[in-house]
Amino acid sequence: MGTKILGVGAYLPSKVLTNYDLEKMVETSDEWITERTGIKERRIAENETVVEMALKAAEKAIEQAQIDKEEIELIILATLSPQLGFPATACLVQEALGLENNAMAFDISAACSGFLYGLDIADAYLKSQKKKTALVIGAEKLSSIIDWSDRSTCVLFGDGAGAAVVRYEPEDPSDVLSSKLYTKGKEWKILYRDLCGYLKMEGRKVFKEAVNGMTKSSLEAIKEAGLTPEDIDLVIPHQANFRIIKALAEKLNIPLEKVYVNVNRYGNTSAASIPIAMYEAIEEGKLQRGMNVLLTAMGGGLTWGSMVLRF
Ligand code: UT7
Repeated sequence: MGTKILGVGAYLPSKVLTNYDLEKMVETSDEWITERTGIKERRIAENETVVEMALKAAEKAIEQAQIDKEEIELIILATLSPQLGFPATACLVQEALGLENNAMAFDISAACSGFLYGLDIADAYLKSQKKKTALVIGAEKLSSIIDWSDRSTCVLFGDGAGAAVVRYEPEDPSDVLSSKLYTKGKEWKILYRDLCGYLKMEGRKVFKEAVNGMTKSSLEAIKEAGLTPEDIDLVIPHQANFRIIKALAEKLNIPLEKVYVNVNRYGNTSAASIPIAMYEAIEEGKLQRGMNVLLTAMGGGLTWGSMVLRF
């Protein structure tokens, strides 16, 4: 009996902003950005709102799940770039989806770990049988909270959305084998959004916390799932920086071929990065049913954690 991931969807805006474009905006270079982060380009939502991106990702996930949208009883949306102060962006997505069933809908603020937090909350709701079908979304319009004159942050982020439909199936084994999620509030000052609305970050400190937190929680989640790192078929890490992903793979002793990477194409899309990567990995045949999959993330809060799925 357990939580099944029935469908995954994603949406990326069509406008591409390359490192060469950024060279014309701030004092930076394609060489610096590539060497330090692995990012070559990112998507920018010129014409899309965060709600529209979330809607398109959700519609794909619902289509892949082959369910009637009115079956969704719970919408959890993770974002650090919400559409309004309130209500929650999840409420606006519920309206955009045209749901008539008054499904419970709320946002969570857990930065780049938001999708994992959302999936974990959904899993708990489903396993306790309070709800049967949930929609978990990570959606970000980070371009709207970036200081485009700050080269230390503006080269790192991008826009996009990803979503998953999850359902409680009493007869089936759970897709979610384990989860280990953490928060360290005393370090919030190394990654936050200031009162002017801009994202601020002490990159080096976040880098270290990311490698340590993702590695430690990954090992814990793998152990809790009754597995060893060799049993993991695919790692889908939060896409913040290729150097972080590489260090994580080395520390886990998992070959990079088993690690999904698209940070080169989209930069850091925060809460959206894991579901976007899951969607693309499915499309490319790299994520297949029956695989042991490790999801791991770190973000502002500080928040971090890992989950193991038998997909
Ligand atoms: O999703 C979770 C949130 N974020 C992250 O996980 C990000 C974690 N941190 C990182 O990825 C890296 O720390 C960065 C990519 C942000 C920075 O890389 P770094 O190797 O830690 O560089 P640094 O911040 O120590 O800066 C090195 C130099 C500095 O110049 P000086 O002081 O050595 O003269 C910076 O001013 O690079 C300079 N610099 C730049 N130069 C060209 C900073 N940004 C840029 C830039 N272009 N865009």
